[in-house]
Amino acid sequence: MNMLDSELVVAALRKSGYELTDNPKEADTVLFNTCSVREHAEHKIYSSLGRLKYAKNNNPSKVIGVMGCMAQKDQELIFERAPHVDLIVGTGQLAEIPRLVSEIRDNREPQMAVSLGRKEGSRDEVSGSFQSYDPLRDPEMRTSPFQAFVRIMIGCDKFCTYCVVPSTRGPEQSRKPSEILQEVRVLADQGVREITFLGQTVNSYKHTEDGRLHRLSDLIAMCHEVEGIDRIKFVTSYPKDMTDDLLQAIRDFPKACRYLHVPAQHGDDDVLAKMKRGYTIAEYREMMHRINETIPGCAVSSDFIVGFCGETEEAHQKSLDIIREFRFKNSFIFKYSERPGTKAHSLYPDDIPEEIKKRRNNEMLDLQNAISAEDNAEFIGTTVEVLTEGISKWGRKAAEEVDPEPGQPLATQLTGRTDCDRIVVFDGNPRLAGSLTKVRVHDCTPTTLIGDIVTGEIQHGSSSMLPILG
Ligand code: 5AD
Ligand code: SF4
Repeated sequence: MNMLDSELVVAALRKSGYELTDNPKEADTVLFNTCSVREHAEHKIYSSLGRLKYAKNNNPSKVIGVMGCMAQKDQELIFERAPHVDLIVGTGQLAEIPRLVSEIRDNREPQMAVSLGRKEGSRDEVSGSFQSYDPLRDPEMRTSPFQAFVRIMIGCDKFCTYCVVPSTRGPEQSRKPSEILQEVRVLADQGVREITFLGQTVNSYKHTEDGRLHRLSDLIAMCHEVEGIDRIKFVTSYPKDMTDDLLQAIRDFPKACRYLHVPAQHGDDDVLAKMKRGYTIAEYREMMHRINETIPGCAVSSDFIVGFCGETEEAHQKSLDIIREFRFKNSFIFKYSERPGTKAHSLYPDDIPEEIKKRRNNEMLDLQNAISAEDNAEFIGTTVEVLTEGISKWGRKAAEEVDPEPGQPLATQLTGRTDCDRIVVFDGNPRLAGSLTKVRVHDCTPTTLIGDIVTGEIQHGSSSMLPILG
């Protein structure tokens, strides 16, 4: 979500005459887009702001701004901690940034635009103060010309006890289906082949338009008709809202990717209840069975929190158990970080020592890596279809080191993903970027399949041979 916000804000500023620079010291405007999910991310922003103090002293006309979740959460506190900051803009006011920056330039007055807190008004008032920011798209601002994020909803109403997002991004609000479809059409005209619908709980999407309730499955059906779009993905899903109509849409619409990111967060029922996730492991298991039955070969990834308040060794083992049981494609693992303003902060002490959090984090990573490596090894010898994204990191580094002979077509290492979201690298011409390429896998790491381009018919065996449940 933050990547999309940054893309859109940069595009808006470019439209009003700004240019991007890599050098924050020379820039006449510096904006930090911020995340509040963990404390560490906020520390990094405050130290980066500190490093700009000298540059601001030297050039008082420099505008320094903080946008996003931390701006909404800390508000004036940012001015207090970093008095050289001129601008604070919450997640719900991004459209105002060009105007506010130019006002600061003209009047040298600090500016702040933030939304209401969740208890500072009626639901409608609070919702109204969080505006979804979805201006026209500028193809030059995307990191990949072939892929684009499309916001379908903002906010979150789930209130997991550890999480700041419901207060930094406000109440759940779904965008109009007709607006989303129009945006996807524009993106397809701009050459986009893969769209990723975004929402904090993307599968909770619902919007009634012209008297008809639209759910995520309906959006998939609508966008499936858009010519030029080859792939449709969505992140992040909430386990309780994984309804059958959605799973059937993934099964029935070939452009819908067989990949779901559905964070389990923990493997122990007591911890899940304390986190207020709203499901038990038995219910999560039932969801996994439905996914596996409806969409054989569907890849599922998860998030986990280790070291949540009061987490016993036994409870931690249960998280490891469900990683073994569900064999996630990959998991993002986070050490619990206490967030002021959350229920967990007021109710439970953050009582697991850092060393134990670290150890549990490493144990979980090692286990997940071993499972990812085993499952990736199953692909060796099969052919997969890859949406080629461009030159891989390794390929870019190699290109800098090797001076290609002038006039020689450059075959370099490319990267892309299967429709199950597995990263694949292979040698090829960078002109393949944006096309669907068949690759025969001959090797792998826990995170990457390594292969060679092939010609001829694709074997779909690769997907069905990899069940989620053993
Ligand atoms: N501490 C650690 N991890 C957190 N997450 C959310 N809040 C916290 C927190 N306070 C994790 C969850 C979520 C992911 C985006 O970040 O796993 O799914
Ligand atoms: Fe945070 Fe829970 Fe909402 Fe996810 S579902 S954004 S973890 S409150």
